[in-house]
Amino acid sequence: MLVGCAIRPERNHMPQTLPVSLGDRSYEIVVQTAFDGLGERIRALEPTRLAVIADQTVADLYGAELLAELTEAGLRAELIPFQPGEEAKCLRGLEILSGALLSHGLDRKSVVVALGGGVTGDLAGFVAASYMRGVRFVQVPTTLLAQVDSSVGGKTGVNLPGGKNLVGAFHQPSLVWINIRTLQSLPPRQFACGMAEVVKHGVIRDADYFAFVEEEQDAIQGLEADALEHVVAGSCRIKAAVVAEDEREGGVRAILNFGHTVGHAVETLTGYGTVTHGEAVSLGMVAAARLSASVLGMPAEDVRRIVRLLDGLNLPVSTDRLEPDEALRVMHGDKKAAGGTLRFALSPAIGRATVHSVEDTDLVGRVVESLQQPPEELAP
Ligand SMILES: NC(=O)c1ccc[n+]([C@@H]2O[C@H](COP(=O)([O-])OP(=O)(O)OC[C@H]3O[C@@H](n4cnc5c(N)ncnc54)[C@H](O)[C@@H]3O)[C@@H](O)[C@H]2O)c1
Ligand SMILES: [Zn+2]
Repeated sequence: MLVGCAIRPERNHMPQTLPVSLGDRSYEIVVQTAFDGLGERIRALEPTRLAVIADQTVADLYGAELLAELTEAGLRAELIPFQPGEEAKCLRGLEILSGALLSHGLDRKSVVVALGGGVTGDLAGFVAASYMRGVRFVQVPTTLLAQVDSSVGGKTGVNLPGGKNLVGAFHQPSLVWINIRTLQSLPPRQFACGMAEVVKHGVIRDADYFAFVEEEQDAIQGLEADALEHVVAGSCRIKAAVVAEDEREGGVRAILNFGHTVGHAVETLTGYGTVTHGEAVSLGMVAAARLSASVLGMPAEDVRRIVRLLDGLNLPVSTDRLEPDEALRVMHGDKKAAGGTLRFALSPAIGRATVHSVEDTDLVGRVVESLQQPPEELAP
């Protein structure tokens, strides 16, 4: 539990509804402090059958509450729990959950509800994408990472022993329902992980949003409803806008990789599970900001603000565990490297980003090496 904080509905609290415009695959994201109303929205989809897929932890925390909300709307749903953890996001998981849908009698007009973090969204989303060649699904994300990132955009999939997210599909949900109150039970490290993507959204698209997170970081970390809702809705809006411009990642969507090129190297070299994805991306963003300063002239003050904010959000901004040559080797093997040069999402100033090929490998190496020193940006 995050210490000493409870989400209270505050001043004139109004749920926010954000449209995601993708032609006939358009849908809405609802940001709320409860599940109230979700049942009605799902009933409007007229499902023949309904299954809620959740990992056991989330099923124990929120399964009964969600089922009660569905029952109140006159819906009957089966709760299908699975073992928590990234390991469940595999082909065997797909097989087991698809089998469970079949045994509960779900047909092509049924709806799958994904209740949980990014693992559940990716796995249950891919089950929905492939079961009977595709059934509708509703995302009910319960981690900050899932609420601000993975539940928006329609990427679903599972891992292979050879790598992450190698089998999957684009499958847009019919609805995303975000109950920010579920963040109360999220461990602080998981919360910080989601905040890394929040910072990224500000850097690549919206300077005002970045400034809001800077100013309100205590309220956000204290889980105050107004601040948190503004952050979650703001990130969804930014990601949805980028995705709407480029649903299948042919172009602009790649700016969402800001901090992720070096971030993936951190994850690969320190071992998945040792650092969280958000911690790796935090280090990657420090590197991307410094590279942006060298390549695009990002102002030193902007680099400083990014480092300070990440540090204030309890995310790492330096590491003694990343060897530049090894990092370069991993980055060159990464799928984002095209034709030998490294591709980076870079920002000329907070609020904007574009994708660049960087040929100067020595420069990239020096930037990675700079992560070994405590950042001078934090000096008083
Ligand atoms: N599809 C995309 O666009 C996209 C984007 C980013 C990440 N991802 C994927 O997301 C996954 C990571 O997501 P994640 O960090 O949410 O992992 P996760 O789903 O495993 O959740 C992390 C842990 O938190 C627990 N949990 C979830 N909600 C909780 C709550 N409200 N209270 C207490 N505990 C809770 C879960 O049981 C789990 O143990 C990765 O597999 C990654 O590849 C996908
Ligand atoms: Zn990420």
